Amino acid sequence: MSKLPHVGTTIFSVMSKLALEHQAINLAQGFPNFPVDEALLKIYQEKLKQDVHQYAPMPGNTQLLNEISKMIDQSYGRKLNPNDEVLVTAGATEAIYAAIQAFVGTGDEVVVLDPAYDCYDPSIVLAGGKAIHVPLKNDFSVDWDLLRKHLHENSKMLIINNPHNPSGQILFEKDLEALHQLMKDFPKLILLSDEVYEFITFEKKHLSVNLYPSLLDRSIIVSSFGKTFHITGWKMGYLVAPEALMGEIKKVHQFLVFSVNSVAQSVLSEYLPTVDPTQLSAYYQEKRDLFRSLLASSKFKLLPCEGSYFQVVDYSGLSDMPDVEFVRELTITYGVAAIPLSVFHEDGKDLKLIRFCFAKDDETLIKACEKLCKIH
Ligand SMILES: Cc1ncc(COP(=O)(O)O)c(C=O)c1O
Repeated sequence: MSKLPHVGTTIFSVMSKLALEHQAINLAQGFPNFPVDEALLKIYQEKLKQDVHQYAPMPGNTQLLNEISKMIDQSYGRKLNPNDEVLVTAGATEAIYAAIQAFVGTGDEVVVLDPAYDCYDPSIVLAGGKAIHVPLKNDFSVDWDLLRKHLHENSKMLIINNPHNPSGQILFEKDLEALHQLMKDFPKLILLSDEVYEFITFEKKHLSVNLYPSLLDRSIIVSSFGKTFHITGWKMGYLVAPEALMGEIKKVHQFLVFSVNSVAQSVLSEYLPTVDPTQLSAYYQEKRDLFRSLLASSKFKLLPCEGSYFQVVDYSGLSDMPDVEFVRELTITYGVAAIPLSVFHEDGKDLKLIRFCFAKDDETLIKACEKLCKIH
């Protein structure tokens, strides 16, 4: 009997394969197609020759733990104890899995906001827990009153994702206030904050949970070097949590991977102090603005994009096909692959919205938009 009967191949793999088969431009899966920073590659080459090839310490390379702590202090003014409150993980995916596995047991309820990134649900199911899906509003903001109605005294965990994949929306000050009140009213609730796009926000600054001391004793925050340094294939991420929670998370991490790629950790520990991740927003803002301006004359309606490298568009002016069929047609007939939003909803809600990834070089974006503007 399958432990995950509802899980098939992810839409990301399906669309990337379809794009390849039809030589379509792949704006579906969320990965950059531009080169990695030369300086990072140079450090890599140097490190390869050094004694960095055996197991790293279980929680992470000591220097990298220190550098992550410094980066979080510089970004959010949070002072962490690198030995007890930071963990280097095999991507944010492992961080999320370990955090869920550490605290969610049989029958425990975990609230997930739909549309939701696809790794939360299977992790909850494998832990024996129950995912309670609460829809976001149609503009992808959180309906805090509705969320509250789905929580009870023994709800185990709430997962938030800010900036949000797939919508490109972010949380605002009023949301953090509502979150603060919620955590106060449900004193046993653990917060898992997925902030993998923490350095990609545009008009507004990212409001990390790291900024809110009153939330920290029950918060687990995860992020991804893959997103920040255009190295998604390295599968390198990190998790921060107070020592009391971290102890349990480390127990899972220890037997899930024990430790993470030693070369990559060593490289990142040297690279981190040389870069300013806050520059990333400006870099992606140019891409977002280019993509949006190129699509302005198309029949697609552009939804706001406040963060992440995803642009959601409404195609109802072009077709009334279900979104899953529409993206197939878009790939096969028009040569551009996208992701349908219905797959991020537990109930498959289809609002005729699709997601494009604009983490691509300008040439790719221009070519894709030429094709998209021809659709009538
Ligand atoms: C919201 C969200 N969380 C987590 C992840 C996983 O990140 P990683 O590749 O570091 O495991 C992704 C990757 O696309 C994501 O979009």
